[in-house]
Amino acid sequence: MNTLEFKRHRRLRKTAAIRSMVRETHLHTEDFIYPIFIVEGENQKNEVPSMPGVFQISLDLLKSELDEIVALGIKAVILFGVPNESDKDECGTGAFHDHGIVQLATKEVKKHYPELLVVADTCLCEYTDHGHCGIVENGTVLNDESLELLVKTAVSQAEAGADIIAPSNMMDGFVVAIRKGLDEAGFIDIPIMSYAVKYSSAFYGPFRDAANSAPQFGDRKTYQMDPANRMEALREAESDIEEGADFLIVKPALSYMDIIRDVKNHFNAPIVAYNVSGEYAMIKAAAANGWIDERSIILEMLTSMKRAGADLIITYFAKDVAGWLQDTK
Ligand code: PBG
Ligand code: ZN
Repeated sequence: MNTLEFKRHRRLRKTAAIRSMVRETHLHTEDFIYPIFIVEGENQKNEVPSMPGVFQISLDLLKSELDEIVALGIKAVILFGVPNESDKDECGTGAFHDHGIVQLATKEVKKHYPELLVVADTCLCEYTDHGHCGIVENGTVLNDESLELLVKTAVSQAEAGADIIAPSNMMDGFVVAIRKGLDEAGFIDIPIMSYAVKYSSAFYGPFRDAANSAPQFGDRKTYQMDPANRMEALREAESDIEEGADFLIVKPALSYMDIIRDVKNHFNAPIVAYNVSGEYAMIKAAAANGWIDERSIILEMLTSMKRAGADLIITYFAKDVAGWLQDTK
């Protein structure tokens, strides 16, 4: 006999059926944006050493990758270019060349799968010889001068057929500059998915291997945010919304769940979490050692990002999860 008064929360956890009935957060294949690294050359499919299962792929092999992505029901990809080192220069001209690697890859996607959404990452660091995200003068990354090149990059990506422009370089004013540039070029219907809240993070390490985009001197701390700051994230998100951003990205995700929730609570726009390369690498490494249950951890982590407030997730796990969701249907 129980004479104590207390709540019986376990009633709603009794069976798998009742647990699924009261589950608050669900993963859907439509939530995911899958990153692809496109490398110059032919017949290239190079696994990134720090990111098992992620490849740099050349244009001629892109179609078979797309076949797989579309068959899994994934609706969007984000493209990153890996140009030849010899094509890099101080202004990152390769970023806005109409035969640039991302422009060609975008056309290739649209040729085979016009309905697959192409998100273009708009930045210069993959194309500059110094590896910074803007123009450098006397060791300083210049703000306003870099905006012009970013606008050119965004317009050339839209001309190639990109559906969404995702500027990631963290110069001030990049959203309004790109919005104006796109509008003037006739692309009023192309949305901007802004990397509004992007921290200067060690979690990007494996990406910089994948994209050969590490800065050749210094770091990105004068433009990317200090991981210690919370209120600054709201200022960054607020100015991007005022400037016309249609989506807000918070990046990285795993160590920044509080920021995802803050941004979700303060702004009425779709929120995107970027589950970055270092978050991927940690799980792959631990799983390869047999130290964790890979599938359960991935599902728990991505579910937590949605619970924190993410509407969409950019993730290297997109194909894995899409496959698992198909199995359970
Ligand atoms: C380019 C860019 C970076 C990432 C996405 N776009 C790297 C950086 O800022 O150095 C990181 C993605 C990842 O780590 O998965 N500005
Ligand atoms: Zn960059």
